Amino acid sequence: MTQALRLGIAGLGTVGVGVVKIVRRHAEMLKARTGRSIEIVAVSARDPNKDRGVNLADYAWETDPVALAKRDDIDVYVELMGGENGPAKASVEAALVSGKDVVTANKALLAIHGQELAEQAEAAGRVIRFEAAVAGGIPVIKSLTEGLAGNEITRVMGVMNGTCNYILTRMQSQRQGYNALFDECAELGYLEADPNLDVGGIDAAHKLALLASIAFGTKPNFDGIEIEGIQQISLDDIDQAEDMGFRIKLLGVAQRTARGLEQRMQPCLVPSDSPLGQLEGGTNMVVIEGDAVEQVVLRGPGAGEGPTASAVMGDVCDLARGLQIPTFGRPATSLETAAPAVTGLPAPYYLRLGLLDKPGALAKVAAILGDAGVSIDRMRQYAHAESTAPVLIVTHKTTRAALDVALDGFRETDVVAGAPVALRIEEV
Ligand code: NAP
Ligand code: HSE
Repeated sequence: MTQALRLGIAGLGTVGVGVVKIVRRHAEMLKARTGRSIEIVAVSARDPNKDRGVNLADYAWETDPVALAKRDDIDVYVELMGGENGPAKASVEAALVSGKDVVTANKALLAIHGQELAEQAEAAGRVIRFEAAVAGGIPVIKSLTEGLAGNEITRVMGVMNGTCNYILTRMQSQRQGYNALFDECAELGYLEADPNLDVGGIDAAHKLALLASIAFGTKPNFDGIEIEGIQQISLDDIDQAEDMGFRIKLLGVAQRTARGLEQRMQPCLVPSDSPLGQLEGGTNMVVIEGDAVEQVVLRGPGAGEGPTASAVMGDVCDLARGLQIPTFGRPATSLETAAPAVTGLPAPYYLRLGLLDKPGALAKVAAILGDAGVSIDRMRQYAHAESTAPVLIVTHKTTRAALDVALDGFRETDVVAGAPVALRIEEV
């Protein structure tokens, strides 16, 4: 009879406890599906006395995750602590060196050190699996690596941070400002330990770096991503974008261009009636485009105990079945170093300006755009509140460089109050 697959789990927080629950609840089902028992042998966390709501009495306790990773009686090391360095990295390396496969939910670790770790895994004849690291419960890594392996991928994009989508959609539906919703997310426990990872777009950019690597056969390049968070988005932007037929999303886009690999994580406008525009709350959505399949849209819960543990267990089951796929879908040593395309392809932009009540003000704005080579598609001016009138402009496709020239012009003119807002409109 085939031997059990023996797990060592480091990290018994939200995700780790979820994994323990599934292994205990579905022992027979997992065995029937994979042909092997899946057993937890040992666990590690910081506090051995914390009540975690699950029975851990059957498992050996290790205070040091590196020691857990090296144990002779485990086959798979499951890293669910988090952090791009420290014990997460040290223990994953120890596991690989001592002949264990690794399953992790740690997007930060892999976005920063993925290439190095993938090479270590291959040198040791082991694999690293990370379905839970991107878009929580959505099986996007498996879809991209396996189901869509026959496609040349042309674009990957999506909403991959549930906290930001929750804030942006609640701003719209509840008429609450960004700061109040940020505080609400903190109270609900939605925010990462460092909230800037969420609202600054960094967490979502970690995920995009991993998807881009698989999609385009390139080394994960987090530093090559243009990142902008949602902190500057106001209720006015939400309202006025809606008025023009758009919703604002923290959207990640990766695509190959003639100028290199474009990777962006920034607030963008998408049509209100598109699947991305309709995405509510903490839900994630990933859109994958390939030359044969055309477009696949994956939608589901991006975080939380059950969804993330579901993704971890998908990886564990694949290992139980003996599936060995290189970390980023092809041998790590064959991944290319892609030149980052610093500026995105031309796109239409949404601009919001505060126009001062002066004769000829609108003409000056139009002239600045014209001089910068930016063509106006639509424009709307609202009534003046005190001395300033909001003006919304949707441009035809233009480059960010041309737009920046116009934004400089607005700053220098005497008819625009405050900082103009410029958001890219993504074709989805
Ligand atoms: P969490 O609730 O904060 O749990 C972290 C766990 O790691 C805790 O049990 C903690 O121990 C343990 N830990 C931390 N440092 C340790 C150390 N030095 N030695 C041993 N144990 C240590 O985190 P989480 O939300 O489960 O997230 C875990 C991983 O999944 C992270 O990489 C995260 O980015 C990723 N992820 C999470 C979600 C989600 O929805 N939560 C979704 C996708 C991916 P104590 O409990 O004793 O403090
Ligand atoms: N902080 C992340 C989010 C958790 O809000 O999506 C899941 O990675």
